[in-house]
Amino acid sequence: MKVLSIINLKGGVAKTISSVNMAHILAAVKGFKVLLIDNDKQGNASKIMNRHSYDHKGTAEVMTQRGIDPAEVIQHTDFEGLDIITANMNLLTANLEVMLDQSRPQQIRFKKFLDGLQNEYDYCIIDNAPDINISTINALVASNDVMVPITIDDFAIDGLAELKEQIDNTREDLNPQLRFCGCFVTQYDRTNEADTQGEEFLKTLEYPVFDTHIRKTPKMKPSTFERLPIILYSPRCGASADYKALVEEWLRM
Ligand SMILES: Nc1ncnc2c1ncn2[C@@H]1O[C@H](COP(=O)(O)OP(=O)(O)OP(=O)(O)O)[C@@H](O)[C@H]1O
Ligand SMILES: [Mg+2]
Repeated sequence: MKVLSIINLKGGVAKTISSVNMAHILAAVKGFKVLLIDNDKQGNASKIMNRHSYDHKGTAEVMTQRGIDPAEVIQHTDFEGLDIITANMNLLTANLEVMLDQSRPQQIRFKKFLDGLQNEYDYCIIDNAPDINISTINALVASNDVMVPITIDDFAIDGLAELKEQIDNTREDLNPQLRFCGCFVTQYDRTNEADTQGEEFLKTLEYPVFDTHIRKTPKMKPSTFERLPIILYSPRCGASADYKALVEEWLRM
């Protein structure tokens, strides 16, 4: 099983949209067994997948309960081959609980849990919060790859240096195999000069940038209200083609 973290310290850059749609494409188009982990107390990935009940255990319990049975936290989605571990506001207290619990290692809880699922899934995609906290550190420790969605605006690269440092530190201290695959531009509007020039500027920096960018589409917001991945809600929109291309570009790496 290969684990990919989608992360950026900035909010609203399409971390969740990218996680959900890449996970769904890996399952629905490529035929893989995929686990999506919602690692954000906002629970947006869980909501899009229509699995947002507080009655079910999820990421919070993976963090806090030693030796938890995967069957207790994994739920099937409505989409073949795609399972989810959900999050909600309980992740907030779970993170505090982990920080206070020095009786066992704090940073390798996801890794230990996911090690037990190596043969169950081909890919695991983790949708992270716009933050560095103990659950995002757990995600980086458990990941093979990291991808950073970026929306071009005046503050597009804010926090990128700090995030890169966190990734480098995690690689050095806890996870030598961690690979920073690169950034990719989301909500791209080719008629907007800021987007075209911003993407070119991004490519001059020291960070790798994916060739594929994700076009902005008015279909994206309604797709989330309908609880549908974009390739089902609007198969012909640019973003559907782009997310498929992005998955292919990542798989080729
Ligand atoms: N390609 C796109 N075209 C149009 N709108 C998009 C696109 N991608 C994302 N959006 C919209 O941008 C908003 C933010 O997306 P999303 O929730 O995925 O960001 P996020 O980085 O996960 O935010 P947060 O930091 O709050 O978790 C949403 O309203 C979403 O519908
Ligand atoms: Mg999100």
